[in-house]
Amino acid sequence: MTKYIVRGGKPLFGEVEISGAKNAAVAILPAALLVEGVCRIENIPQISDVHLFYTILDELGASVRSINPHTVEIDCTHIRSTRTSYEMARRIRASYYLIGALLGRFARADVAMPGGCNFGVRPIDQHIKGFKALGADVTVEGGFIHASCQEPRLHGANIYLDVVSVGATMNIMMAAVLAEGATVIENAAKEPHIVDLANFLNSMGANVRGAGTDTIKIQGVSCLRGGSYAIIPDQIEAGTYMAAVAATGGQILVKNIIPKHMDCITAKLQECGVEVEEREDTLLVRRSEPLHQTNVKTMPYPGFPTDMQPQMTTVLSLAEGTSLVTESVWNNRYRYVDELKRMGASIQVDDKTAVVQGVDYLTGAPIQACDLRAGAALVIAALAAKGESEISQVQYIERGYERIVDKLRSLGADICVVEEPGENDQLEAHIG
Ligand code: EPU
Repeated sequence: MTKYIVRGGKPLFGEVEISGAKNAAVAILPAALLVEGVCRIENIPQISDVHLFYTILDELGASVRSINPHTVEIDCTHIRSTRTSYEMARRIRASYYLIGALLGRFARADVAMPGGCNFGVRPIDQHIKGFKALGADVTVEGGFIHASCQEPRLHGANIYLDVVSVGATMNIMMAAVLAEGATVIENAAKEPHIVDLANFLNSMGANVRGAGTDTIKIQGVSCLRGGSYAIIPDQIEAGTYMAAVAATGGQILVKNIIPKHMDCITAKLQECGVEVEEREDTLLVRRSEPLHQTNVKTMPYPGFPTDMQPQMTTVLSLAEGTSLVTESVWNNRYRYVDELKRMGASIQVDDKTAVVQGVDYLTGAPIQACDLRAGAALVIAALAAKGESEISQVQYIERGYERIVDKLRSLGADICVVEEPGENDQLEAHIG
């Protein structure tokens, strides 16, 4: 069992390089299934969700060749199967993209129901609605989603999404790029990774227009050929380091970012008294004065991202005054609050709203991550707290943050990794 030990109370200083965007990578990797030829993909983050996708693609018959830690060449010309292994696919939420990609290329997909972080009901009805509109039959049986089309190719359609969904927008886009005719997705999500996926597909020969607006138009093409593409920087990873320095104080240079993508996060941190200076592809973030309260409501892009809500709530737990945080994307994303309370935070959650009464300081404690961003929030809390914290269940954090411990140590944080024998290890040790 891996844990992080954090001795908090030290301000952060230095520079941090932001990795490629997780939520773009976990869409672009399965999208490579649509391509006959070699896709060279650069700026891939080294995180466990990405490694899972390499295994899944390899099992389906793709050739996955690592060129360096952040560049991979994937050749999906000779795919053997359209059925993913149950165990692999159910471990990751983004495995649902395998449905759109396999269905789009082979008119058939059999993929385990997706897993991933648990913050309430996570339906995929809008994805299924889209696949059906494109001419697929979709059934759920034995833990698998089976999607198939009688014809060799799907056909274009007009699809209106009932909720703004990142996953459904990208999945339908993947299914539609090789469909016969034109597809229009209305009420589409506009996150930076939607634009990134469209750019990736277009660089392989697709015809996708309007990504980043709420209407996306896709003209089907007969095949996608190989090419080269670099993934955008991770908005949420960058925001997490900004929140870390907001909580601890200090000054850091956040490098390799797209400042425009950071506006929604920068604006809220500035309201709390954090200074943010924008340069070409960096942000200089400084916090020298006490934090003050603000109110935050999560919204689809360009609103404040739900994936920054736990980190921002942690910052506000140390701000003067009372802040209101409203989570409007997920219905249960406050499970980490009990852990923050162990550290002395004063937060009351009522349904989708958290009332955060700022305290002067947090104190270190044994705490447990319950999902990826909750885990990041606890790391921030531990960095800012007086005394020592021990964070368990860090495998959640490592799903989405590349070398987080090394990056924080380079900023002067006192954080280290310890391996402790878990139940299985103890059993093995016992048998051994
Ligand atoms: N929704 C439906 N029906 C659907 C799809 C979504 O009702 O068919 C609802 C959801 O229940 C939710 C809302 O629509 O209330 C938005 O869900 P969305 O589909 O946008 O989320 P997602 O695609 O499953 C991605 C990210 C999440 C991020 C959300 C929102 C990936 C792999 N995951 O999830 O990222 O929170 O968009 O921005 O891209 C994370 O990185 O920590 C993470 C959880």
